[in-house]
Amino acid sequence: MFSLPRAPRGPSPLGNPLVKAVALAAALLAVLPTTALAHAVLLRATPSSSQSLEQAPAQVQLLFSEPLDPVFSQVQVVNAAGQRVDAADSHVDPDDDRLLVCSLQPALPNGMYTVVWRNLSAIDVHPDQGQFPLFVGVPVTQPTVAATGLTTTATPETTFGRWWFYIAASLFGGVLATWKLVLGPAIADTDAAARVHRYAFRLILTGGVLLIVGTLFTAVAQAASAANVPLLQGFGQPLGDLLLRGRFAAIWWPRLGLEVASLLLIALGGIDGLASECALATLPAVLLTSALTSHGAALPEGTAPGIAIDWLHIVGATTWVGGLIALAAVLPVVRGAAPVGPKVVGRFARLALIASLAVLLSGVLQGALEVGSWSSLLTTLYGQFLVLKTVLLAVMLALAGLNEWRRRAPGGLVGLERGVRAELALGVVVFGVAAMLSGTPPTPIS
Ligand code: HEM
Repeated sequence: MFSLPRAPRGPSPLGNPLVKAVALAAALLAVLPTTALAHAVLLRATPSSSQSLEQAPAQVQLLFSEPLDPVFSQVQVVNAAGQRVDAADSHVDPDDDRLLVCSLQPALPNGMYTVVWRNLSAIDVHPDQGQFPLFVGVPVTQPTVAATGLTTTATPETTFGRWWFYIAASLFGGVLATWKLVLGPAIADTDAAARVHRYAFRLILTGGVLLIVGTLFTAVAQAASAANVPLLQGFGQPLGDLLLRGRFAAIWWPRLGLEVASLLLIALGGIDGLASECALATLPAVLLTSALTSHGAALPEGTAPGIAIDWLHIVGATTWVGGLIALAAVLPVVRGAAPVGPKVVGRFARLALIASLAVLLSGVLQGALEVGSWSSLLTTLYGQFLVLKTVLLAVMLALAGLNEWRRRAPGGLVGLERGVRAELALGVVVFGVAAMLSGTPPTPIS
């Protein structure tokens, strides 16, 4: 459990909104008591590996923390020679979707057996696997295989798919939002208007195409990961199993539909007017599809708060990073038109401040809900990723402050371009860490 930080005495240093946000985030940490499991974690095995059984059981039952996808969840039992001794009837119990069951062949001889399982959470669609020994008529000994455990089964492809999604969503939605709120108003009636408009349109269009490509790739990567086969074998049966039924399909198809619709709106209607506003309005829904399959969707406190917090986080992150992409692309274009650059950056600073506050608050809140204790921050891989993200966020905020100072300094525009690129590069790295975090169970990995 988190302990309450001591309240500061004397005059309040909390004048700055960022300082206020940090203080609020720390206060939230202090009052959040829970630890989330996320992923379908093995809670109980019957029979367990800690007892010597007089005879082989008729069945092995594994109870998990989340509902299981029946197609991609399986348990097998093998003997010391690695031969299967179960009756090949592995299934999710029809009366309890968290229970994975298989029968054993009759009259098994005494010896040590290994129960091997692999599952797919029906909520956050994360696959996991583990194994544990069974001792039949022999004493319990130090097992030759790892005891009951959770192994992260995020593949490099699923992680890459998530990273791609965050960048493409920033390029499409973040740049479009920045165009509407920052660039368009700042460059209207200037010489640079036509060139910036062209640039922004191409960027947004590219982002829309990348978003769709990424969504298609993610389905194949997820199918391969769920079926435990190499990427190319994800095509065919696993992809059909994933996209023709179940929770993943119910989220994936609307995501693809929204992405195609918003790309068409931009391609046909441009980045001004009603069509582009409709395209922008679909983006929160596209980002919601990510939150619906995040760890936040599997919080024991209830899915709605976890999804809402994750959604706020990803909306803030893609708006911030998308704005940085827009700025990095546009600042060199307006270099000759002296007052335009600082004006654009000045308007963006306000948007970035709101977005970064949303990222900070929601990130800390979600981190607290997932890890649940200060010690887990250092002892779990999930916690270590969180610490890394916090450090990177601090550096991004420091760079943002420096960029703001450069904006006001005379002749600081060239340094400002470098500063914006550096902040953007860090954002891209943080997206990579976020992609790894989303595939890592918040519990310790054995
Ligand atoms: C104080 C710093 C931060 C903390 C504590 C934090 C924490 C978190 C947590 C707990 C998650 C949920 C991962 C899961 O599914 O289990 C997450 C996801 C994510 N974070 Fe952060 N984060 C921070 C900063 C950032 C920054 C600076 C960015 C980018 C600008 C960012 C981008 C993301 C993205 C894109 C996701 C994935 C959301 C999704 O897939 O729905 N985070 N973060």
